[in-house]
Amino acid sequence: MRILGIETSCDETAAAVVEDGRHVHSSVVSSQVDLHARFGGVVPEIASRAHVELITAVIAEALVEAGVLEMDDLDAVAACHGPGLAGALLVGVSAAKALALTADVPYVEVNHVEAHLYAAWLEEPDLEPPLAVLIVSGGHTMLVVMEGHGRYRVLGQTVDDAAGEAFDKVARFLGLGYPGGPAIDRLAVEGDPRAIPFPRPMLGDGPDFSFSGLKTAVVNHVRRNPDAAVADVAASFQEAVVDVLVAKLVAGAHEAGASTLVLGGGVAANSRLRTRVVEEAETRGKRVFLPPLALCTDNGAMIAATAWWRLRADGPTPLDAGAQPNLRLPTVA
Ligand code: KG4
Ligand code: ZN
Repeated sequence: MRILGIETSCDETAAAVVEDGRHVHSSVVSSQVDLHARFGGVVPEIASRAHVELITAVIAEALVEAGVLEMDDLDAVAACHGPGLAGALLVGVSAAKALALTADVPYVEVNHVEAHLYAAWLEEPDLEPPLAVLIVSGGHTMLVVMEGHGRYRVLGQTVDDAAGEAFDKVARFLGLGYPGGPAIDRLAVEGDPRAIPFPRPMLGDGPDFSFSGLKTAVVNHVRRNPDAAVADVAASFQEAVVDVLVAKLVAGAHEAGASTLVLGGGVAANSRLRTRVVEEAETRGKRVFLPPLALCTDNGAMIAATAWWRLRADGPTPLDAGAQPNLRLPTVA
């Protein structure tokens, strides 16, 4: 079964063709980073307009690359319907519904957070639940136990900024540009992660996260020490975030009796986080699964993969369904 997956929830216009939820035949991502960089963050109105301009070409490229030359070669069309920016989501949802109608195949709506979790299944279809999953992106920081397909228990989440948001805000303050995560990741390699003892917010304080105080600590430190080496600040900040993320993921796995750790979302591309999670897993005799870098940040393949599972569980989505900007992860009690 070949599914076209479309993703437009934020600033990436993406489409991919995936077979049976695991074989990626194409994955095209057109980033709008350059359009938003001068504003230091995503401007919703600019994002929606750019999606409208890019979506047709991105979908066409994904279809051609996958060798889908007739719409008959597709078995379903899926789009991310939330959470995300309302205007941006609507572009992908409308395109997917129009294509599904034209091709006379099912339309499937997909939850963006669930899709980040399924990026790991794309690479390793034999993962065995329960899994302890840490979803860390620009909009989300969630510690989730996946008990089975479509069965999630949220152990903890951020009470303020998301992890990626903290990276972006700190990078912006340090003058490192947007998006901040990759910039801090690169610079941190040249710095000393022990140079500045930034706080580890809520470490040992339950499964929830908080990053806004850490961001303020960085700002205060730099204002008091204007000569501090930026690489040391970046490395010390990153180490504080990673310490908290890794500790909570390991504690969550312990609580859930999960022997496999999984990362998902843009921050899962962070090199220090990846190294530390692998080290922790080895020490504790756990398996760890990290999606490849291209599947950590937003992409269409994760949407198509999730749609395959969702279609089998719930069937097609009615064509009068819309976008849901505040959509939550479906959870079991
Ligand atoms: O998953 P994603 O593409 O979009 C959302 O769903 O939010 O995540 C984007 C976020 C941004 O905040 C970006 O700074 C962060 O992921 N990010 C990183 C890295 N690459 C992307 N954060 C830390 N280190 C990275 N290498
Ligand atoms: Zn995302």
